[in-house]
Amino acid sequence: MGQEKRIKKSYKICVIGCGHVGLVTAACLSELGHKVFGVDSDKEKIKNLNRLKIPFYEPQLEELVKKNFKKGRLKFTASISGAVKDSEVIFIAVGTPSNPDGSPDLTAIEKVSCQIAYNLNSYKLIVEKSTVPVQTGIKVKETILRFRKNKAFFDVASNPEFLREGSAVYDFFYPSRIVIGVESKKAEKILKEIYAPLKTKIIVTDINTAEIIKHASNSFLATKISFINAISRICDLTGADVKKVSEAMGLDPRIGKDFLNAGVGWGGSCFPKDLEAFIYIAKKLGYDFNLLKEVKRINQEQRIYFVEKIKEHLWILKDKKISILGLSFKPNTDDLREAPSIEIINYLLEEKAKVVAYDPQAIGEAKKVFKGKKIKFAQNIYEAAKSSDCLCFLTEWDEFKNIDFKKIRKLMHLPLIADGRNMFERKDLEKLGFIYIGVGR
Ligand code: UDX
Repeated sequence: MGQEKRIKKSYKICVIGCGHVGLVTAACLSELGHKVFGVDSDKEKIKNLNRLKIPFYEPQLEELVKKNFKKGRLKFTASISGAVKDSEVIFIAVGTPSNPDGSPDLTAIEKVSCQIAYNLNSYKLIVEKSTVPVQTGIKVKETILRFRKNKAFFDVASNPEFLREGSAVYDFFYPSRIVIGVESKKAEKILKEIYAPLKTKIIVTDINTAEIIKHASNSFLATKISFINAISRICDLTGADVKKVSEAMGLDPRIGKDFLNAGVGWGGSCFPKDLEAFIYIAKKLGYDFNLLKEVKRINQEQRIYFVEKIKEHLWILKDKKISILGLSFKPNTDDLREAPSIEIINYLLEEKAKVVAYDPQAIGEAKKVFKGKKIKFAQNIYEAAKSSDCLCFLTEWDEFKNIDFKKIRKLMHLPLIADGRNMFERKDLEKLGFIYIGVGR
């Protein structure tokens, strides 16, 4: 990645929404050689992007934005009308947050569809990138037909995004597959040309199928994690080791080793929201997706269960100093959305524990999330561990893998390690005099 790839035809593209998916997509498409407008209604964000200030942490994104901005292939604007008029292809990458009842809020998708309709001055391919419920493509098409100002032709397509935070740029350039849901040969040809330099299998489907592929994929991955977390409970009850169970299970190619790490569970901007949405949509269509409700329940319970394991050792949490290492929902991101750390820290605070936290990237975000709460932030691992009664690992950052545990042992008040991501070996830590709590081992 990072290297320029050869395209046969350079398209004029506009990506609406400069959030995680939108900004990565815009930067990477410009790296492929297309001329890209990144559009966002947040004027402050656009102002910052034009000063090359990236709104979130994502490895390699900043250099990609800077490089393509300087080459003039990537531009940012808050004016959707100009960008739409100037583009041949429009990617919609706006947010689809959850409503309180779990249904996805599609207000932004509708608004953007109207704005595209008002500015439809020639043929355009309109591509859904945001994760949306099945049949949203139909609604986008109906909206544009209803509001278009002239009779210019257009196509709607679905091209779900599978990139992971923390490796989003890599995932764009080396995707496991590209899914395109289309209604015309022309739309298929354009999307194939846009992605031509990426060597991967392209799955061509209708729009509804493409929309379902995204929700099904994320729900299945969340199910895999909750499954191994359920197994971890049985391991705890029997003294078995879940790491060995998942290693052996994962060697069966029908199962696969990925997403079988037991721990404090899944969070982030996608799995929780997508599961909610899929349960809701299925119900609306007439199917009660009880399996996914259970997947969600196991995930929620796992966080509380982890704190209860700590409580077994400390008995009373009041006034105990608990040091949290890792706040983001996973490594290599500063994103705290639905992170297990939030629920775990809130639980500890309710019990009146003294919480001090450290994260290599997410402290800025955490200060916003825990505003007004009694939590301290440390500058590094060792400051966090000082006089601690429990060192609690919630995110498996690489930085934590090289900890000097001898030094930590001397700093701590009580040598208790709670490893919420099963990063360490019990016997190594016990040799150094620690008490070790893992998940399912
Ligand atoms: C996910 C999908 O992987 C991606 O394809 C989609 O486009 C967006 O949603 P992301 O949310 O960035 O990506 O994170 P991911 O790496 O999938 O991890 C999700 C959560 O699962 C994290 O909280 C992670 O810690 C947890 N997880 C992952 C586990 O608890 N165990 C595992 O074995 C794997």
